[in-house]
Amino acid sequence: MNIVTVKNLKKYYGKGESQVKALNGIDLQVEKGKFTAIIGASGSGKTTLLNMIGGLDLPDEGEVVVDGVSLSGLKERELAVFRRSKVGFVYQNFNLIPSLTVRENIQFPLSLAGTTPDPVFFQEIISFLRLGERLEAYPGELSGGGQQRVAIARALIAKPSIILADEPTGNLDSKSGQNVLGLLKMSVETYHQTLIMITHNLELAQMADRVVRIEDGRICQ
Ligand SMILES: Nc1ncnc2c1ncn2[C@@H]1O[C@H](COP(=O)(O)OP(=O)(O)OP(=O)(O)O)[C@@H](O)[C@H]1O
Ligand SMILES: [Mg+2]
Repeated sequence: MNIVTVKNLKKYYGKGESQVKALNGIDLQVEKGKFTAIIGASGSGKTTLLNMIGGLDLPDEGEVVVDGVSLSGLKERELAVFRRSKVGFVYQNFNLIPSLTVRENIQFPLSLAGTTPDPVFFQEIISFLRLGERLEAYPGELSGGGQQRVAIARALIAKPSIILADEPTGNLDSKSGQNVLGLLKMSVETYHQTLIMITHNLELAQMADRVVRIEDGRICQ
């Protein structure tokens, strides 16, 4: 079953001579419960594509359907609900809130939705990500790898349909990067999560079920 369907997606920036075709007709289907890596040169359109799948940005043309929801029909408020309920984001720079504790950061997306995590699932996630001892610490007190584990917990806690990770190991040394990637891969297996991850690291991309290469805003076969 495909959880993401992208059809003829186009996104252009600017006009005339200086126009950039960030996405130039992307067709992509992503199978539920699989780990897909997206690779490609800098500027090839990887982040633009991921942001459209996550409902952070809208295309000029084409369609994105995630877990049965067509994003083009949604208003800004509905897109916000879509992102909160269906997508877990993991970024290169972790994007944690420095003034909140690890526990509060993990619970943050659910608190925005006015709910609290299922306590059993919360315990399971923090032990899986080895965060049990650090729940009352602040992000700045953790290593990069530790901060990224918090971001992964935050992404998993709402049981999203998909996890979108934009170079999640980009700011980590190679050992922490391997470790974080191992945890992401295990979350796909343990929680039947669907993961789409952008990486520049071909060795890490090889750990995915499938590798998709983008070149000049198009998928290369
Ligand atoms: N908001 C924007 N305004 C203008 N141009 C943009 C904007 N966002 C992206 N672009 C351009 O679109 C193209 C694709 O950018 P994108 O960020 O998707 O690339 P990328 O593959 O993620 O690159 P990197 O590996 O460096 O992160 C680039 O040429 C970029 O300069
Ligand atoms: Mg990028």
